[in-house]
Amino acid sequence: MKLSVETRSPADTRADALIVGRYAGEARLSPVLAALDARLGSGLSRVLAAEKFEGKTGQLSHLYTEGRIRAARVLVVGLGQKRNADADTVRRASAAAARRARDLGAATAAVHMPADGLPARVRAQAVVEGVVLATYRFDRYLREKNGKVLQALSVIEPERRYQAATREGVRLGEVGAIAACLTRDLVNEPANVVNPTYLVERAREIARAGKLKLSVLEREDCKKLGMGAFLGVAQGSEEPPKFIHLTYAPRGRARRRVAVIGKGITFDSGGLDLKSADGMLRMKDDMSGAAAVLGLFSALPKLRLPVEVHGLIAATENMPSGGAQRPGDIVRAMDGTTIEIGNTDAEGRLTLADALAYAAREIKPDEMVDMATLTGAVVVALGQGVSGVFGSNDALTARVLAGAEAAGERMWRLPLHEDYKEGLKSDVADLNNISNQRGGGAIVAALFMRDFTGGIPWVHLDIAGTAFAERDWALGPKGGTGVAVRTLLAYLGGGGRR
Ligand code: BES
Ligand code: MN
Ligand code: ZN
Repeated sequence: MKLSVETRSPADTRADALIVGRYAGEARLSPVLAALDARLGSGLSRVLAAEKFEGKTGQLSHLYTEGRIRAARVLVVGLGQKRNADADTVRRASAAAARRARDLGAATAAVHMPADGLPARVRAQAVVEGVVLATYRFDRYLREKNGKVLQALSVIEPERRYQAATREGVRLGEVGAIAACLTRDLVNEPANVVNPTYLVERAREIARAGKLKLSVLEREDCKKLGMGAFLGVAQGSEEPPKFIHLTYAPRGRARRRVAVIGKGITFDSGGLDLKSADGMLRMKDDMSGAAAVLGLFSALPKLRLPVEVHGLIAATENMPSGGAQRPGDIVRAMDGTTIEIGNTDAEGRLTLADALAYAAREIKPDEMVDMATLTGAVVVALGQGVSGVFGSNDALTARVLAGAEAAGERMWRLPLHEDYKEGLKSDVADLNNISNQRGGGAIVAALFMRDFTGGIPWVHLDIAGTAFAERDWALGPKGGTGVAVRTLLAYLGGGGRR
């Protein structure tokens, strides 16, 4: 989508659809809407009255302008009560309006949102994120593609003193939304395309484009490093495992060093503890954490943040075969911890154990964050709209949650309740990969992983419920959501605070 800033007034803006926001509970039209109404012979106020437009969040009314202004249509979108309006209100209203504009046949749209409260940069960024994310489609395998495509968007800002900030917001919004869409594409691609080798190819493209350092460890390299937990999962698959390490280094001195780790199971059959047909159906999305790492690294070179970031992906399938890991096997992780395999379907924590141990030993970052479609239990706890957050350090956890808030991604902290570690005890190894106690599965998995963080401040995002939408939602169609990419950008300092 082509993005720009429009410096003319809404009434003078040329577009297939002119989108204007309106708060609830305001008797009079805003000056912008009143000016449009005058040019339209009161047509706008008549439509709003006839359709009982109240300004509820996401409510939409539109009319055709018949050449009386330069825009072909005006779409008014509700923003809810003014006192509650924040960046996410603007993001979601822009999303709803852009989708409607596109479905009405508009190829170009221009958006004007009222200026109250929100800094111009935040407002413009939210508009762009909403529009780009909401109009995303994954249609490369469809013979018949939907011909209605929004090709260009401009953010209207006639006031000169806000134009620089608006330009910056448009740029940040574009970088974050495009990164999230790259992540969505990777998640939506099926597992016969996205295997560990494919993830390496994509990492290579991203590294080349952004002049990033990339190293890829093959099975033998991982063996030498002692990654027995990762390789145990990989041994049932015909596809060779790959351990991907991307590095973004700022030009000057780095203010801090961060490791970002994504679960990269390109297909999770469960292994010998095979999943049911229903349980397996969506398991191409078990690399959503890895896809978020790649999305993030596609954005980092465009933002010049003063942070050194390491991206790690232990990529493999989890498959059953004559060579597969058996229940009862004992493996040794890179830090020397022995693990009894209580269930081959609890594979994510095994691959992440070695990735965390690698980060702690080889990178020694100031802090680390992992993203993983780790447990069905987090979906039971928080549903499909909220990611689970676990943290070993309150200050770091607060910064990640602030990033989520700025990005408009719903996340909620869950406790690392110490007593539940009891359930992970094994008679024959240092740890079992599943608990012998009932419930709290998301917490148990997080406690298991904490053992491999070497005491480095760490946050774990369990995105099993949020990485893949089972129906169309506010910011996109069903399928991969790109969750965590914009949260991490905001946390690293590139997505902007509110
Ligand atoms: N990839 C799954 C978790 C998952 C479940 C993601 C549903 C998305 C939707 C993970 O590897 C898994 O199989 N977890 C098991 C763990 C259990 C065996 C302790 C689970 O949650 O059932
Ligand atoms: Mn599994
Ligand atoms: Zn899994």
